[in-house]
Amino acid sequence: MKPYTLTIIKPDAVAAGHVGKIIDHIVSAGFKVRAMKLMRLTPEQAGMFYYIHRERPFYNDLVRYMSSGPVVPMVLEKDNAVADFRTLIGATDPAKAAEGTIRKLYAQSIEANAIHGSDSDDNAKLEAAFFFSALEWVD
Ligand code: CDP
Ligand code: MG
Repeated sequence: MKPYTLTIIKPDAVAAGHVGKIIDHIVSAGFKVRAMKLMRLTPEQAGMFYYIHRERPFYNDLVRYMSSGPVVPMVLEKDNAVADFRTLIGATDPAKAAEGTIRKLYAQSIEANAIHGSDSDDNAKLEAAFFFSALEWVD
C-alpha cells in the first residue's frame, strides 16, 4: 500500500462552497481518494482530534470553529503523501502561504484556514483511524 495522509476540508471552506474545487485541486495534484465523507463534528470530537493542541491559547476557539459546521474528511494516497500534501496546502497562516496553494486560494484566516493535512505518517494513521473504519476505505 502506498503512503497516505488525512485531510479535512474545514467548515469555512465547506460553507463557502469550495469543496468541489478543492477536491479537483487535490486529485489534479496526483492524490487518490481512498475514503471520504461529509459530517459534522461535535465539540467533544473536535476537541479530541486537536487534543495535541489542548494547552495552546487558540484551542477553545479552534474547537468551536471545527464543530461550527460540516466538514469533509478524506484519506489521500500518494507517494510521499504527507510532505507533498503539506506543500499543496501551504502555510498555516494563509497570509504566509505560497501562491497557488489551497490555503492561499481558499483560506480566510489563520484559524479558518480551509483545510487540514497530517504532519507525519504516524499522525496520518491515527487521524485516518479517528474518522474511518477499515470498511470505509476503497481501492
Ligand atoms: O494545520 P497546521 O498543521 O498547519 O497548523 P497547527 O499548528 O497544527 O494548528 C492546527 C490548527 O489550529 C490550524 O490549522 C488552525 O486552524 C488553528 N490555529 C489557530 O487558530 N491559530 C494559530 N495561531 C495556529 C493554529
Ligand atoms: Mg498540525
